[in-house]
Amino acid sequence: MAPLLQIENLNLDFVINREKIHILNRVSLEIYPHEVLALIGETGCGKSVTGNAVLRLMQNNVLMEGSVRYKGRDIYAMSEEEFRLLRGREIAAIPQSPGTALNPLMKIGFQASEAAIGAKVEKDNKTAAFLVRRIFRKLGLPDNDHFFQSYPWSLSGGMCQRALISIGIIAKPNLLIVDEPTKAIDWALRREAVELLGKLRLETGSSMLFITHDISAARHIADRIAVMYCGEIVETGLAEEVINNPLHPYTIGLMNAQPSRGFHCINGFMPSFRQLPPGCRFSNRCEYADARCKTHEPETSVSDKEHKVKCLRGKQYA
Ligand SMILES: Nc1ncnc2c1ncn2[C@@H]1O[C@H](COP(=O)(O)OP(=O)(O)OP(=O)(O)O)[C@@H](O)[C@H]1O
Ligand SMILES: [Mg+2]
Repeated sequence: MAPLLQIENLNLDFVINREKIHILNRVSLEIYPHEVLALIGETGCGKSVTGNAVLRLMQNNVLMEGSVRYKGRDIYAMSEEEFRLLRGREIAAIPQSPGTALNPLMKIGFQASEAAIGAKVEKDNKTAAFLVRRIFRKLGLPDNDHFFQSYPWSLSGGMCQRALISIGIIAKPNLLIVDEPTKAIDWALRREAVELLGKLRLETGSSMLFITHDISAARHIADRIAVMYCGEIVETGLAEEVINNPLHPYTIGLMNAQPSRGFHCINGFMPSFRQLPPGCRFSNRCEYADARCKTHEPETSVSDKEHKVKCLRGKQYA
């Protein structure tokens, strides 16, 4: 089956004060139709930068190489207008930060209707409002005038979050990019959003790139998991495989840091993107690293079951 989304050898640098900072290094990922891929990794490793690259949300100070293909077409070869339509209708983002993602000065019903009109799903306010009420109902939100006319600041965090999800799915997109918040949202709300997205995904059949650093959320919702460390994909595989049979020493460390496995933290810190070590980027924290790991960048090897690992010891695991 052809992937719906294919990121191939994506290199991305930010240029700051004429200094090039290499963030994404040869990132390759595929998402197949109806599939949920969770992208996990610790804070600052490059997950959101990857999601934003798929949404073409890049500032002027970015240098990129490699390709991002949607249904086989390079999204960076599309015109602005072409991609704008694609982003509304086929690829949608669900920002899960209710506090900042909604416009505080615009009534909630109006914001959702605008999204439907912007994505050209509906032509006028009346039919858009009808559609919005139907989606609000589906997500357990009130569909009455009072709620429609409410401003986001007058609603609970859970309601705002559901409204954001409504806006994200209004055009029945084929691909949802969900960047789970790491800050400023309580655990119960996050859990609720994950449950809801899991349910919606079963109903709509949308594919999803689910960005998180919460392994239990990834386990709950994902078919496959990709593990990112310091701007690189170090492991990908079926969710159960990656969780129960992690191959990369970093993934093994992440799993051992789970409360259910005794909270054993990985020693040390992720290196700064300004001072990357030669060889494997994880080598300074890796208990299995030998001299070669400190000088040679590992290639990615693939085991059976399409379990991939970027580690010099990978071949031995595979
Ligand atoms: N616009 C930017 N200009 C310069 N550096 C940036 C920019 N955006 C992100 N970065 C850097 O890129 C790296 C990756 O950031 P990113 O936001 O993708 O991390 P993340 O994995 O999403 O982290 P979190 O889990 O905290 O959301 C970080 O070092 C960050 O400081
Ligand atoms: Mg992020």
